[in-house]
Amino acid sequence: MNTRDRHTLYTWVAQDGHVPLRLAGGEGAWFRDTDGRRYLDFASVAVNANAGHNHPTIRDAMRGQLDELCVAGPAMWTRVREQAGEALARVTPPGLDRFLFTLGGADAVEHAVKIARLVTGRRHVVCRTNSYHGATLGALAFSDDPRCEPFGPFEAGVIRVKDPWCFHCPWGTAPDVCDRPCVAHVEAAIERAEPQTIAAILMETIPGTQAGYIPPPDYYRRLRTLCDEHGILLILDEVLTGFGRTGRWFGIDHYDARPDMMALGKGITSGHAPLGAVAMSRGIADTFGAKALWTGTTHSAHPISLAAALGNLQAMEEEGLVERSRILGERLAARLTHIKERTGVVADARCLGLYGSLELVDSIDPARVRRAALAAGVHFLARGRCIYVAPPLVIAEEDLDLGLDRIEEVLGSLSHASHPASRLT
Ligand SMILES: Cc1ncc(COP(=O)(O)O)c(C=O)c1O
Repeated sequence: MNTRDRHTLYTWVAQDGHVPLRLAGGEGAWFRDTDGRRYLDFASVAVNANAGHNHPTIRDAMRGQLDELCVAGPAMWTRVREQAGEALARVTPPGLDRFLFTLGGADAVEHAVKIARLVTGRRHVVCRTNSYHGATLGALAFSDDPRCEPFGPFEAGVIRVKDPWCFHCPWGTAPDVCDRPCVAHVEAAIERAEPQTIAAILMETIPGTQAGYIPPPDYYRRLRTLCDEHGILLILDEVLTGFGRTGRWFGIDHYDARPDMMALGKGITSGHAPLGAVAMSRGIADTFGAKALWTGTTHSAHPISLAAALGNLQAMEEEGLVERSRILGERLAARLTHIKERTGVVADARCLGLYGSLELVDSIDPARVRRAALAAGVHFLARGRCIYVAPPLVIAEEDLDLGLDRIEEVLGSLSHASHPASRLT
């Protein structure tokens, strides 16, 4: 059977032999293929369908906008643009209530860096190892990931610092005696490069496709202090962690620090239309009172995408999805720990809200686990040594349990296959 179309290219895969999921429809945490087979979506598509598949409130908002106005320029006022700005300002951290709309996550990151350079007049950007900020050349330049490899040389001006990843602490420090060498390391890197050349620190608040590790509780407060001392702007990439994914509206809401800018995307429309945004402080926005905001793309602030964002925020607020993510997240965290203990093939289990990751031991191939689970009707992402559990925030409790049961079964069977003598009860 011809499983894919002849005229379009699929991303991140070799075209030959690629067997795409043939998507026919979906609702809530489930989607179905053209053969009528149902899948439980533990990936929220690409960690973006936070409100679930084909949400009725979002569809209604988009439909209403289709009838009202579909075409507008990026520097034009539209009703939906004003409303989307107001709705976003209700949920972003205090003071971060000015927005530049973009096409998606990657160009939100790039625009945030451009703004930092315009505001500070400096060029360098401090970025982490093990980071991903998007597939465009600019966003890749700030990333450090296998997805960057074929595309360099990238622009100069990136200062790379090591991760505050306690489970694999680059300094070998035990958490109970840790005096934050990760922060001292950033400070030293800034001093070496000369602080007056550095426009911004750019980091994923909780590194999404890099194992989902959770930086220590005082990490961002300390970086904030460093930034304030040196006039450096703090940009957080909340493309994946935003809009309730981690049990709060944004990943940074778990920390007592405020960034100067956040890059937003994915869950901003729950995948119903392409959109991103740079959220910024009033101080930064005011820089462009008299001076031109020297950037923009043709389709930014597109009315249909903004209507999707508006419908998405309405659905999230009406249905209390952020709180739901927090509560279900506790259940997910407990189950992931249980799976770690029972299967013996998990090196580390991490979870914040409905974003969980299982780092597997070397003998188990995460891609194989993914394929086996997909055959059992559960769809999730695998990257590096990890599999990720990121269901839509609307998922029913019993569906969460069902999917986790399947994952446990698959891991259990692979653990028996790799250790035939072991009998886990
Ligand atoms: C943390 C993070 N930033 C940025 C991006 C890029 O977003 P987009 O694919 O919408 O351009 C991604 C995409 O996966 C991401 O995970």
